[in-house]
Amino acid sequence: MAIEDKIKELIEKRAKARLGGGEKRIQAQHDKGKLTARERIDLLLDENSFEEFDMFISHRCTDFEMDKQKYLGDGVVTGHGTIDGRVVFVFAQDFTVFGGSLSEMFAKKIVKLMDEAMKVGAPVIGLNDSGGARIQEGVLSLAGYADIFQRNIEASGVIPQLSAIFGPCAGGAVYSPALTDFILMSEDASYMFVTGPKVAKTVTGEDISTKDLGGSHVHAAKSGVAHFVSETEEEGLMMLRKMLSYMPQNNLEDPPLYDTTDPIDRVDEGLNHIIPDNPNKPYDVTDIILSIVDESEFMEVHRQYARNMVVGFAKFNGMPVGIVANQPSFLAGVLDIDASKKGARFVRFCDAFNIPVVTLVDVPGFLPGSAQEYGGIITNGAKLMFAYGEATVPKITITLRKSYGGAHDVMACKQLKSDLNYAWPSAEIAVMGAQGAIEVLNYRELSKFESDEERAAYKLKKEDEYREMFANPYQAAKYGFIDDIIEPMNTRFRIIRGLSLLQTKKDSRPPKKHGNIPL
Ligand code: HXC
Repeated sequence: MAIEDKIKELIEKRAKARLGGGEKRIQAQHDKGKLTARERIDLLLDENSFEEFDMFISHRCTDFEMDKQKYLGDGVVTGHGTIDGRVVFVFAQDFTVFGGSLSEMFAKKIVKLMDEAMKVGAPVIGLNDSGGARIQEGVLSLAGYADIFQRNIEASGVIPQLSAIFGPCAGGAVYSPALTDFILMSEDASYMFVTGPKVAKTVTGEDISTKDLGGSHVHAAKSGVAHFVSETEEEGLMMLRKMLSYMPQNNLEDPPLYDTTDPIDRVDEGLNHIIPDNPNKPYDVTDIILSIVDESEFMEVHRQYARNMVVGFAKFNGMPVGIVANQPSFLAGVLDIDASKKGARFVRFCDAFNIPVVTLVDVPGFLPGSAQEYGGIITNGAKLMFAYGEATVPKITITLRKSYGGAHDVMACKQLKSDLNYAWPSAEIAVMGAQGAIEVLNYRELSKFESDEERAAYKLKKEDEYREMFANPYQAAKYGFIDDIIEPMNTRFRIIRGLSLLQTKKDSRPPKKHGNIPL
């Protein structure tokens, strides 16, 4: 065959591979409002940057007459490209080929990609849309999954791993995304579950729809499995790009620095008045976050889950940071099991990838009650404490208002090796709130009063005395637990100066295989 013919053959084969499961199935995918694997990759990556691997791979299965059904690429598109000029590796499951189900060779393609990404030190993005294990391939498919899981585990904390779910993600397929750093689900077309509605019905008798069992709203708000939800796939792909902009390529690098026109000394006088005089009155901590970060840009993670805690990415003078904040406008910003898990996972991500953590504290304590105790608030609260205490990245803590009891210790206090601890004049750093303290301290005396009025008046007086003495930042500052009490309007400037100072921070923990975070 002449070289011209060979090249023609190559071009034809490439064109065939690009069609995946064929025109009809592509149309069916579009009819469902979904993009194809290749369309997704094109939107995700910088224009013309994609280089594909293993386009000519096909499966080796002969059972179920599979030798008569072969598609070049075998149901997953893999390769590398760039996002904002930085290298990323990407795989996109192709639902048009056997429903994107995972075969032996499909798994090998992903494994190869992940091994390359680890060699080069670049993030991996997985775009999921799959019917799970390829049924015709049996245990080869299970082994393929486990090969990927092992890569996910080894890559964890070395390169950022992001997952998007744009269709089904069921059975064993859920565990690779679950092992990655962040999961994004598209609002309508995606669902995730270990066992589907039919199995649930058979085993437990529960009658539940696919959406109610594993739709995006369930995982975003209830289980916390999904960190982000996008209205459309296009929006989801843009969100993946944005996420990466806050992250380094790998754990040995720092996150990128950006130019900003937002002045470092921009003051917001409104911050001086944002905390209500009444300590029980809520306010929205995201207003404070938006006021102090560059260009009011905050990428919130887990927005719908454990809303009493706010976590997400932002920049200060072009430096990416992770922000962790109690949210007084939801459950008074109390720490509970879900909020502790949410915060802990985020802090650990930031620490793994050299992203400084800024913590804004307004926490009345831990949520009391049997539901929390039976659910293990002890173990779960300890997660957040552990995450802060082991983190060696720059840590800056600003106490805005309440910081009581155990929750004070957990929320990046000085003794958990926070580098800079500032407080606003409105801060109340104490063992507990005035009401609780007076109940305990004056229990006997209170019981002496015969009338309720007398008791209430005495309590109020004592509470005022307690507040005067303890509900302020000066007690903590007296011992050096607070480095400075700052005017709220200067918060942005003080954080930026702190982050600049801490750029050369060196800190390490004793050598060990790994700690034993209370899981
Ligand atoms: C092989 C599969 C497949 C699978 C779908 N297909 N899932 N082929 N293995 N797991 C094929 C279909 O035969 C069909 O082929 C095409 O993909 C599209 O599927 P449809 O059913 O027509 O699409 P849709 O109606 O959108 O339904 C999608 C679906 C459904 C909900 C995902 O296909 C489904 O329930 N599939 C089976 C899911 C499952 O049980 N997977 C195994 C999970 S167990 P044609 O030729 O018609 O286009 C598992 C264990 C792993 O994953 C454990 C690892 C640790």
